[in-house]
Amino acid sequence: MSDKAALTIDGKVYEFAIFTGTEGEKAIDMTNLRAQTGCVAYDPSYANVGSCKSAITYIDGEKGILRYRGIPIEQFDTEKPNFVEVAWLLIFGKLPNKKELAAFSKKLTENAAIHEAMKYHFEGFPITAPPMAILSAMINALSCFYPQFFTIHEEDVFEDAAARLISKIRTIAAYSYRSSRGRPFIAPHPKLRYCANFLHMMFSEPYELYQVDPAVEDALNLLLILHADHEQNCSTSTVRMVGSSRANLFASCAAGVCALWGPLHGGANTAVIEMLQSIHTGNISPEDCIKMAKDKNSSFRLMGFGHRVYKSYDPRARVIKKQCDKVLATLGVNDPLLDIALKLEELALKDSFFQERGLYPNVDFYSGIILRAMGIPVEMFTVMFAIGRLPGWIAQWREQHLDASSRIMRPRQIYIGNKQRDYIPLEKRG
Ligand code: SDX
Repeated sequence: MSDKAALTIDGKVYEFAIFTGTEGEKAIDMTNLRAQTGCVAYDPSYANVGSCKSAITYIDGEKGILRYRGIPIEQFDTEKPNFVEVAWLLIFGKLPNKKELAAFSKKLTENAAIHEAMKYHFEGFPITAPPMAILSAMINALSCFYPQFFTIHEEDVFEDAAARLISKIRTIAAYSYRSSRGRPFIAPHPKLRYCANFLHMMFSEPYELYQVDPAVEDALNLLLILHADHEQNCSTSTVRMVGSSRANLFASCAAGVCALWGPLHGGANTAVIEMLQSIHTGNISPEDCIKMAKDKNSSFRLMGFGHRVYKSYDPRARVIKKQCDKVLATLGVNDPLLDIALKLEELALKDSFFQERGLYPNVDFYSGIILRAMGIPVEMFTVMFAIGRLPGWIAQWREQHLDASSRIMRPRQIYIGNKQRDYIPLEKRG
């Protein structure tokens, strides 16, 4: 392929450079399109737009490939999956050695508690407050206690900010759950690893420590790893957009939480379980669900299916589906919703409507089944996605922050409103 693209407008030919990514992706450099041609490119959902160059995550939607810093996602499904080491990999670009991992884990342990003053914020939320609203508010509130992170220049200061955020998001999430149930806050345990400590803060009681099943701890590590980054998805693009104004890391991640909340994005894991539950309680046949999903006049969508980038099986869904059987067997849980999900997948994968549109199960289709089996309430499912995605947001924010060429993001538009007209005083208006 040529390294130039030619555009003809009103008989004049304009040339633009084409550059190639690591895996052969091609991009037309349009950074001077408007200056050269007077035109802007129009693509309202940015489906054809590269907003940045990034070295963090690679996705091939046609082949169902996902790699973190070059490592295929499937390779993190090890004997003892470790979310903390993957967080380090995404943020700093390499797997940590023993010394680095021990030091970072120590920082997470030392920073798991939240400021005592922050605990009073929970009393201000109604008991029915959506946990994602609390999470976004509390991440922003967290920044008030760390003004030293409002502008980050040195690497060690950045690592401190990342450690505090990654550690405390668990505590905030667990406390929002405890508060919603009228239960006392459980302090983080200094001897527990990342995921086990979260489950401890969620489910221990003053009179009885929650016994973390190692299989559940491993499954939660893997689930968070699978959610950790996904290149320029809606919430990550939001983090970059906010960060491009030089807003601080906490404010940028709080904005990411808000974007992730949407049912078309991170909110889908909650929507999937609610869909499966309504199918189960309504005794609706999977066949009828498929019919409704294909019916343009029906508002029913097969939540957890389809993806803007994957037009083949989401590799994360494949790993999570395998984990479902393992976790449910370990916990002795027989979940009828899993049977419904498996039947829906079987029917959809052989249906031309889904095949023609490249609609396959995505990361959200099976994740809720595992979270449910762990005892995580459905209203917390998207919060779990946010805990997993936080290292990705931090990595992407840092990459942009370190890029001297990055500028404030400011898309243009095509105006279709009124031509110029005059102001009419109130007394003269009809
Ligand atoms: C995540 O971007 C990321 O990387 C996101 C994510 C990440 O890790 O950050 O992977 C996480 O957000 C996963 C996606 C979770 N969302 C859902 O599961 C919600 C259900 N899925 C959809 O609403 C939809 O598939 C999207 C939002 C995921 C993608 O939307 P697109 O790319 O805008 O696709 P579209 O809406 O234009 O649909 C194309 C066609 C349409 O039919 P036609 O008009 O061509 O006839 O496919 C149909 C749609 O009606 N379609 C579906 C469908 N998804 C798309 N039909 C039935 N059920 C569905 N789920």
